[in-house]
Amino acid sequence: MFLFSKSSNSSMALRRLQVTWCWFCVLFLRLTVTAAQTNTTVTVTAPTTASFNVIKGPNITKPGCQRQCGNVTIPYPFGIGLNSGCAIGEFFEVNCNTSFSPPKPFIRQYEVTEIDDNHIRFVSTVASSCYDQRGQILENDAFMGVNRTGPFSFSDLNTFTVIGCDDASLVTGYIKNFSSGCVSVCSRAEDVIAGYCSGAGCCQTSYIPRGFKGFFITLNSLQNHSDVFGFNPCSYAFLGERDKFTFRGAADFSDPTFIYRTLATVPVVLDWAIWKSNCSEAQKANDYACHPSSFCVDSDTGFGGYRCICAPGFEGNPYLSPGCQDVNECEDPNTNTCEKICTNTPGSYNCSCPVGYFGDGRKDGQGCIAKNKEFPVMKLSLGLGFGLLSLLMAITWLYFGIKKRKLKNLRKKFFHQNGGVLLKQQVSSNHGGIEPSKIFTAEELKKATNNYAKDRILGKGGYGTVYKGILPNKQIVAIKKSKIMDESQIEQFINEVIILTQVNHRNVVKLLGCCLEEEVPLLVYEYVSKGTLFHHIEHSGMSTWMSWENRLRIAAETAGALSYLHSAALKPIIHRDVKSANILLDDYYTARISDFGASRLVPLDKTQVTTLVQGTLGYLDPEYFCTSQLTEKSDVYSFGVVLAELITGKKPLCMERSKEERNLVTYLIMCMKENRLFQILDPRVLREGSLEQLQQVAELVKRCVSLNGADRPIMKEVAMELEGLRKFTARHPWTINNQQHRDEESIGLMANASESLDLYTVPLSPYSDLVPLSGQYSLESTDA
Ligand SMILES: *[C@@H]1O[C@H](CO)[C@@H](O)[C@H](O)[C@H]1NC(C)=O
Ligand SMILES: *[C@@H]1O[C@H](CO)[C@@H](O)[C@H](O)[C@H]1NC(C)=O
Ligand SMILES: *[C@@H]1O[C@H](CO)[C@@H](O)[C@H](O)[C@H]1NC(C)=O
Ligand SMILES: *[C@@H]1O[C@H](CO)[C@@H](O)[C@H](O)[C@H]1NC(C)=O
Ligand SMILES: *[C@@H]1O[C@H](CO)[C@@H](O)[C@H](O)[C@H]1NC(C)=O
Ligand SMILES: *[C@@H]1O[C@H](CO)[C@@H](O)[C@H](O)[C@H]1NC(C)=O
Ligand SMILES: *[C@@H]1O[C@H](CO)[C@@H](O)[C@H](O)[C@H]1NC(C)=O
Ligand SMILES: *[C@@H]1O[C@H](CO)[C@@H](O)[C@H](O)[C@H]1NC(C)=O
Ligand SMILES: *[C@@H]1O[C@H](CO)[C@@H](O)[C@H](O)[C@H]1NC(C)=O
Repeated sequence: MFLFSKSSNSSMALRRLQVTWCWFCVLFLRLTVTAAQTNTTVTVTAPTTASFNVIKGPNITKPGCQRQCGNVTIPYPFGIGLNSGCAIGEFFEVNCNTSFSPPKPFIRQYEVTEIDDNHIRFVSTVASSCYDQRGQILENDAFMGVNRTGPFSFSDLNTFTVIGCDDASLVTGYIKNFSSGCVSVCSRAEDVIAGYCSGAGCCQTSYIPRGFKGFFITLNSLQNHSDVFGFNPCSYAFLGERDKFTFRGAADFSDPTFIYRTLATVPVVLDWAIWKSNCSEAQKANDYACHPSSFCVDSDTGFGGYRCICAPGFEGNPYLSPGCQDVNECEDPNTNTCEKICTNTPGSYNCSCPVGYFGDGRKDGQGCIAKNKEFPVMKLSLGLGFGLLSLLMAITWLYFGIKKRKLKNLRKKFFHQNGGVLLKQQVSSNHGGIEPSKIFTAEELKKATNNYAKDRILGKGGYGTVYKGILPNKQIVAIKKSKIMDESQIEQFINEVIILTQVNHRNVVKLLGCCLEEEVPLLVYEYVSKGTLFHHIEHSGMSTWMSWENRLRIAAETAGALSYLHSAALKPIIHRDVKSANILLDDYYTARISDFGASRLVPLDKTQVTTLVQGTLGYLDPEYFCTSQLTEKSDVYSFGVVLAELITGKKPLCMERSKEERNLVTYLIMCMKENRLFQILDPRVLREGSLEQLQQVAELVKRCVSLNGADRPIMKEVAMELEGLRKFTARHPWTINNQQHRDEESIGLMANASESLDLYTVPLSPYSDLVPLSGQYSLESTDA
C-alpha cells in the first residue's frame, strides 16, 4: 500500500498495478513450477522493478522525529523541523507551520501536500486575468521555481491547463529550457463542454517534459475578452497533476472560488532524489543512504541523484537503519498463494503441503492433493492382480483352446481315417425307410460312459473293452472300444457297420451306431442285460431257468439268427466268431447274437472268402483253420460247438480235462459212438429231455462239426431242425412269470406252443424283419 496515497484513484491504480504484478508473479511462478514440478517447495521471487515499492511500516521517520504535519506524513529522508536533524539534508527539511489548523508542512515557501518514495506534491500556483468591458483589469502571470541546485525537479505527471474563451497561454521551463502552451477560444458558452479540455473554453497540453526546475506562465488574451465578456470575464492558467483537474464547463468561468478550489485539489508534482551523487559513487562514499535489503536506483531526472528501494519481499524505509524488513507474506492470505502451509523466507515465502499430501501447495499451481497412502499400493496390487489374473486366464484359455482345437482336429482326422466320410455318404445315400446308423460324437460317448469310468466296464477281452453307457435319452447302450483298428479294413468295417445297423433281427444285438472320432472306432450296441450264454452255462447249476426247453429255445433262436444272417438277401453275413460268449441273453432270456467284430460279408459271386483265420479256439472250424477258406459253414461248425456246450454244460476246450475229454466235440462224438452219451450230457438236460431229442441234438452237433464243411448242414436246416425239436418238446412252455414251474407241473399244453414261440411281441417270421440289402451299399471293393 502506498502510505501516502489517500485518494481512491491512486489506490485503484495501485490495485491495477498489483494485479499486473500478480499476473507477472503467476507467470513467473508457472515457469518456476514447470521447471521444478517435483519440488514441493516453491520460492516466490519478486521482480526487480520497484516502481511500486512504497515506504511503509512503523519506522517511517527517523526515531524521535515527528511523523506527521497535519494530515501529511513526512517520511525520512524528509523530516520535520529546520536543522532538527530529522531530514537527510537541508533540502529535505519540512517546516511544519502550526499556525494553520491543521498544521501545514512547507518546504521553503511551498506547501507540501504529499510525499511518497518517488514524488513530492506541492500546492501549485494559478495565473489568472480578469477583464472588464473595455479591457484588462487584472493581470497575474504566475511563477514557481525550486532551488536549481536542489534535489527537486518537475515531474512529467504534470500538465498545463488554460481556462478561458479568448486566451493563449505559455508555460516556460528553465534550466532545462522548454516552452509549451495552448490556445482556448469559444464564442458561446453553450460550446463549452464540461470534462473536455480540447480547446473550447479549456485547453491542456498533452505532454510536459520532466526535469525542469522552475517555470513561468504567461497568460494573454487575444481580444481582451471583448467578445466573450458576457460569459467569460476571467481566464486561468496553471501547471498541475494531470489527472487531478476536472473541467466543469462554463460553470468554471463564473466561479469566484475557482482558484481556491484548483489550488486545493490540483497539486504540482516534483521528482525527488538523494542529491548530488549517483549510486556507484554513493556506494563508495561513506554517506550511502541505502540500508541493507535495499537497492539503489539512479535518478532519471537528468540532475543526478539516486533513490533507495527495498528489495523484493521487503518493506520499510530503505533510508533508515536497520533498513527494509522482510515482509511476512504468510500473515496476510492476500499476499501469498499457498493453499495449506506457508513458510516465510527472507524476501519470499515457501508453499508446502502437510504430510499426506503432495503437490506444490500453491492455489495457482497444483495445490495440495491428498495422497491416499493405500491408493497407489492398492492400485498397484490391484492392477498387478488383475494383470496376472487376466494373463492366467488368457493362458488357460489359450491352452484349452489349443487343446480343444487339437482334439477337434484329431477327431476330425480319426473320423476321416476311420472312414467317416464313407459312412456318412452311405448313410445319406440310404434313403430306405430304415433308421440309419447313427454316428456318435466322441463327446457324446464320453458323457454316456462317464468318461469311460471303471464302474461302467461290462466286459474286457482280447477285442477291447465294453462299457455300459447311458445316452441323453436314458437309453442304455453297450459301447465297445476296440483295441486296434487295421486301417486297411476301414472300408470293410464301415460296410459292416452299415449292414449290421440294419440287421433288424430280434436275436441279434442291434448295432446302434458308431463313433469314428477316436483313434479306434467305437461301436454302440443296444444293451443286453443278462450277460452271456457262456456265463449261464458255466453256472447252470444255479440258473433255474436253464431248463432243457430253454436251452433248446436258445439254440433255436441262435440258429435262426445265424440262418437269417447267412441267407440275408444279397450279401450273406458270416459271423465268424460264434460262441457261447457271443450269445447274450436279454431281460427275457432271449438269445441275442453279438459281436460282429469279425463278421464278413460274402460277395455274391463267391461262396468262400479267403481271409485271415479268425475265431476262438475250441469253436474254430478246422477246415477254415487249415484252408483259410471262410464259408457260412464255419459258423455252422462253431454253432455245433455251442450246441454241444448247451447240452453238456461243459466248456468246448478244457485243458484240465483228460486228454480224450479235452475237446468237447471230439469227446461228444466219441461218446456218441460208444453210446455213452448220458455220461457227457448235463444232468438236468438228461433229466428233462427225451432220449430221442437228445440223440437228435447230439446228432445235429455231430453233423455241424463235420470236418468237411460240405458235410455240415446249412444254418437254415439247423434252425429248422431245432425248431422242430422245440415244437416237439414244447409241452413245458417256460415263461418268465412261471419260472418256478418246473417240468413236472406242465404237460400237454400244446395250445401254448405258438405262444411260447411268440413270447415277445416282435413278429417272429424269420425273414419278416429282413433288411432289404440293396446295391446301395454294394461291396465292390471288398476283398479286392
Ligand atoms: C527443491 O529444490 C531445491 C533447489 O532446487 C532443492 O535443494 C531441494 O532439495 C528440493 N526439494 C525437494 C523436496 O525436492
Ligand atoms: C524501527 O527502528 C528501531 C530503531 O532504529 C529499530 O530497533 C526497529 O527494529 C525498527 N523497526 C522496524 C520495523 O524497522
Ligand atoms: C485532515 O485531517 C483532518 C483531521 O485531522 C480531517 O478532518 C481532514 O479531512 C483531513 N484532510 C485531508 C485532505 O485529508
Ligand atoms: C506560518 O505562516 C504564517 C502565515 O503565512 C507566517 O506569518 C509565519 O511566519 C509562519 N511561521 C513559520 C514558522 O514559518
Ligand atoms: C539554492 O541552494 C544553494 C545551496 O544550498 C544556496 O546557496 C542558494 O542560495 C539557494 N538558492 C535559492 C534561490 O534558494
Ligand atoms: C535557457 O534560457 C536562458 C534564458 O533565456 C539562457 O540563458 C540559457 O542559456 C538557456 N539554457 C539552455 C540550456 O538552453
Ligand atoms: C486591449 O487593451 C489594451 C489596454 O487596455 C489595449 O491597448 C489593446 O488595444 C486592447 N486590445 C484589443 C484587441 O482590444
Ligand atoms: C556517477 O557520477 C560520476 C561522477 O559524477 C560519473 O563519472 C559516473 O559516470 C556516474 N555513474 C553513473 C552510472 O551515472
Ligand atoms: C524455501 O525454499 C528454498 C528453495 O527451495 C529453500 O532453499 C529454503 O530452505 C526453503 N525455506 C524454508 C523455510 O522452507
